[in-house]
Amino acid sequence: MIERILPSGVVSSESFGDPAQVRLHPREALVVRDAVESRRREFATGRWCARRSLAELGLPPDPLLPGPRGAPRWPDSVVGSITHCVGYRAAAVARSERISMIGIDAEPHSALPEGILETVSLREERLWVRQLGRSAPGTHWDRLLFSLKEAVYKAWSPATARPLGFEDARITVDPAAATFEAHLLVPSPLLRHGRPLHRLRGRWLISGGLVLCAIAEPAGADLPSGQPPSAAGPLGIAT
Ligand SMILES: CC(C)(COP(=O)(O)OP(=O)(O)OC[C@H]1O[C@@H](n2cnc3c(N)ncnc32)[C@H](O)[C@@H]1OP(=O)(O)O)[C@@H](O)C(=O)NCCC(=O)NCCS
Repeated sequence: MIERILPSGVVSSESFGDPAQVRLHPREALVVRDAVESRRREFATGRWCARRSLAELGLPPDPLLPGPRGAPRWPDSVVGSITHCVGYRAAAVARSERISMIGIDAEPHSALPEGILETVSLREERLWVRQLGRSAPGTHWDRLLFSLKEAVYKAWSPATARPLGFEDARITVDPAAATFEAHLLVPSPLLRHGRPLHRLRGRWLISGGLVLCAIAEPAGADLPSGQPPSAAGPLGIAT
């Protein structure tokens, strides 16, 4: 499913269970040595997905160890992202000469637990979550918003080595196109054509009881940066 929301140049692999043949490299096994079984399984299957994708790029099955902030240390000249939730694991990778940042996230398509929306959203975002909840009640917009923010963080964090709080990006959505923009509300150290990066764009898919979100920024993309975040319409929906 995830390949449906990723651009060409990105190779992905997914799994709806934890295949018995999945094996961790001994150095990876050390990372989750003291973890509970469910954590070991998601970690291992995420890496199995990643290795399958890396093999498509012609890369060997080397260990994928976590870096200081938790993101996998990808081989030189590769960017990527891993996600897992109950019943789903996926990885997406690309050559950095084609794609500069990847962030993917999967969540169960269900309402967020009580009180979480308020802690992960801005007032403008809660507005569109509530309005779309009335006009399109088949979608759990609160869960989608949460997942979009997780995908933003996964793209941002390895590229910048900087924190990004839930209040540091404002998400707008185009529900008809199932696309979104994340307007970065903090200064970015990343440049596009000599200008700071102001926003990230991506797509989502809701299918099979899952919410899948993906950002894959083309390397050298001519982003229309410099536009203020207020470019969104009254619903917070991108215009
Ligand atoms: C890192 C984070 C996004 C992962 O969320 P999660 O619900 O555990 O997401 P998933 O289970 O789908 O993915 C976990 C995978 O993300 C990857 N990951 C972990 N930290 C990461 C980071 N800093 N950057 C990129 N990827 C990261 C890892 O591959 C991890 O799997 P693994 O440990 O098995 O390798 C979350 O724990 C977090 O810190 N969120 C707060 C920051 C945030 O979301 N800010 C919002 C900005 S708008």
